[in-house]
Amino acid sequence: MKGFLITFEGIDFCGKSVQIEQLVNKLQAKQVKFSLLREPGGTIISEKIREALLTKEKEDMNPVTEYLLFSAARAQVTNKNILHALDKGEVVICDRYFDSSTAYQGYGRGIDLEIINKINFFATNGIKPDLTFLIDIDLKEMEKRKQLAAGELDRMEDQAADFFKKVRQGYLLIANNEPERFRVIDGKKSVDSISKEIWQEINNKIKL
Ligand SMILES: Nc1ncnc2c1ncn2[C@@H]1O[C@H](COP(=O)(O)OP(=O)(O)OP(=O)(O)O)[C@@H](O)[C@H]1O
Ligand SMILES: [Mg+2]
Repeated sequence: MKGFLITFEGIDFCGKSVQIEQLVNKLQAKQVKFSLLREPGGTIISEKIREALLTKEKEDMNPVTEYLLFSAARAQVTNKNILHALDKGEVVICDRYFDSSTAYQGYGRGIDLEIINKINFFATNGIKPDLTFLIDIDLKEMEKRKQLAAGELDRMEDQAADFFKKVRQGYLLIANNEPERFRVIDGKKSVDSISKEIWQEINNKIKL
């Protein structure tokens, strides 16, 4: 594998999409070839699974169903897009990847972490991001941004505060276990200063 896989993680509203947009602008300015994917999604089939996962229905979704659907969408985008792009030597940017499942379905919903680790590995052909940015905000900040955001919340965003508390703590534990791969970023800093920090970290690892 010649490419470089960068993933963005963190609880809802932490600023992943905003930072990815900043990064994309910088890569484009440098004429670096890259692929950008979001999770769940990124392929026709994964986008269909995304809809099932994020739409609110009259019936509750079982946590195991939820986890397997996320994993199914991930297997599809990994095999259809990510592996090919990495083989071609591209930079691949993912808005969420398997750490999201460890944090949300493992730490958040309480699914056995050993099972999660095995299925995560299985769904991604064992690939690991070269660099993962965990953008960390506290629950108060998340609530503040949620209030400011216009529009309806999707099924995942519309969870109780207690759930996000577990997810955030989970993320911090995951990052702590893999300090080589993770960079924990204070999400309350300005968009510009976070973007500079991310750019610096990437340039420390690869020649763009
Ligand atoms: N550093 C920042 N300081 C203040 N506000 C920010 C910062 N970064 C992002 N925001 C704001 O927070 C909100 C959420 O940002 P964004 O959509 O990038 O989060 P996200 O992590 O992609 O969320 P989701 O997981 O729901 O996709 C937006 O309204 C955005 O403008
Ligand atoms: Mg986003």
